[in-house]
Amino acid sequence: MKKLVVFAALCTAMVACGSGDTNKGTEDKPADNASTAPAASGNEKALEMIGALDCTTCHKINEKNIGPAYTEVAKKYEATDENITMLADKIIKGGSGNWGTVPMTPHPTLSADSAKEMVRYILSLKNQ
Ligand code: HEC
Repeated sequence: MKKLVVFAALCTAMVACGSGDTNKGTEDKPADNASTAPAASGNEKALEMIGALDCTTCHKINEKNIGPAYTEVAKKYEATDENITMLADKIIKGGSGNWGTVPMTPHPTLSADSAKEMVRYILSLKNQ
């Protein structure tokens, strides 16, 4: 009987160790991904912001919605510093007139840097 208890305790200990190892494995994974695809990190950050903000209410990647498709925006503008600044400013201040009369709502809490990061991502969709 005593032996059985010890055996049971050992099993529990082994299971605990086993699950500890599995956790470690999943922790390692994102780090590996990040190191194999460093170029995508800027886009991932921009995508995260676009998803966290209200942009997707009015914009789709490939299709016109309330606002123009991001791929259309990318075709219309060269990715120059001037255009990136102008479009980032438009996202922050809102406005209409380039695609029709429907206005884009302003996003005054966005920093210029975050807005530019999203614009760079949007303009990178040109070839898709
Ligand atoms: C309420 C709907 C709405 C929301 C929310 C919205 N947009 Fe827009 N967006 C529009 C409309 C409408 C236009 C077209 C404006 C025009 O005709 O100049 C536009 C235009 C744009 C343009 C092109 C601007 C230009 O002058 O050509 C970009 C880039 C853009 N949006 C990015 C974003 C991003 C990034 C977000 C999220 C932070 C966002 N939009 C949120 C409706 C929206």
